[in-house]
Amino acid sequence: MSINSYSLPAGSVWPRASVFLDQCYAELGLLDELSARKQDVEREILETGSYVHTIRELAHGCRMAWRNSNRCIGRLYWKSLKVVDAREINEPSHVFDALQNHLDLAFNKGEVLSVITIFSPRADFQLLNHQLIRFAGHGNGKGDPAEEVFTKTCNQLGWEVDPKTDFDVLPWVISKSDGTTVMHQPSIQPEMLVDIKHPDFPWFEDLGLKWYAVPAISDMVLEIGGVVYPIAPFNGWYMGTEIGSRNFGDVHRYNKLPEVALRMGLDTSNSDSLWKDKALVELNRAVIYSFRKAGVAIENHHDASEQFMQFLRLEEQHGRESTGDWSWVVPPMSSSASPIFHSELVNKVVGPNFFYRSIIPSAGRVDTAQTQKKGKCPFHFNSLK
Ligand code: ARG
Repeated sequence: MSINSYSLPAGSVWPRASVFLDQCYAELGLLDELSARKQDVEREILETGSYVHTIRELAHGCRMAWRNSNRCIGRLYWKSLKVVDAREINEPSHVFDALQNHLDLAFNKGEVLSVITIFSPRADFQLLNHQLIRFAGHGNGKGDPAEEVFTKTCNQLGWEVDPKTDFDVLPWVISKSDGTTVMHQPSIQPEMLVDIKHPDFPWFEDLGLKWYAVPAISDMVLEIGGVVYPIAPFNGWYMGTEIGSRNFGDVHRYNKLPEVALRMGLDTSNSDSLWKDKALVELNRAVIYSFRKAGVAIENHHDASEQFMQFLRLEEQHGRESTGDWSWVVPPMSSSASPIFHSELVNKVVGPNFFYRSIIPSAGRVDTAQTQKKGKCPFHFNSLK
């Protein structure tokens, strides 16, 4: 069995292709080319079971998939996605080069660009990383607890750092269908990591926090018109709360609220003092301030909310039903101060879209939250079947 056994049920490729091509060619103003193209695609599917997207279909399909990503607040910019066609690449060393190019193109000296790199639907390798840049979880409170299982896999493959810190960038791991595994350390320019300081509290930098500039999800499956791309890393730029509230604030992540509150001199013995809320605000101010000062793109959750409302208005103007997953799109702090909190969103999944991929047993990376939701979650790839 191939390592990427994401096949759609026989008979479902053409219907999905047909719907996609209708929409894609209409949106691109290419309706005069549609019927000839559909004939070709139908024949290709009959002969081979699938079809190859033209570069225009691929590029617009990727942008549609972003537009349809119900959990993303940043979708106003869906048209700006840069699509890199890496479908010809199969050699691990070339894959690593393509991933490095992705990061360098996306970082863009701090003016982060949204980029997606598309590998072959029939690639005989799988990329095991959750994101292209992520910090190791060494256990015992060192590093990012969310990466502890994957870090262990890397350790078993021989990856070690000395000394271990809270912010060691993990290697890329590729598993091939012949059972071999290849690792490569990405080259991260110092400017791709931002040291976190606070505009008013000089002690803040003693916490030694930093975060990376480019959030690039690399473990989701992209489906466009019946073609499944199992390796399609994509990135946007950060909204501050992703780092300040979640990555630093969550108890099961870096869990920094108690330390920040203590340094602020807050009464942590009684939740009536709202010490968590005060610490959250200052953590988030520090993240936004530090990214801005470093010249690295970041959005605050108020501006991001306004942009999302603008996205909804534009979708309506184009006669498209806009969809969203309320609990994901509402920012994780000061939620009622965001207009999204007061709006109703329909969480309907339409294609093209991104889905969580099935957990590959050889990866040794098991995301319990995802496993529990398996089968129920509309974004799990299995639900397409
Ligand atoms: N929330 C994730 C993180 O903090 C990143 C998800 C994608 N975010 C984005 N702004 N495109 O690492």
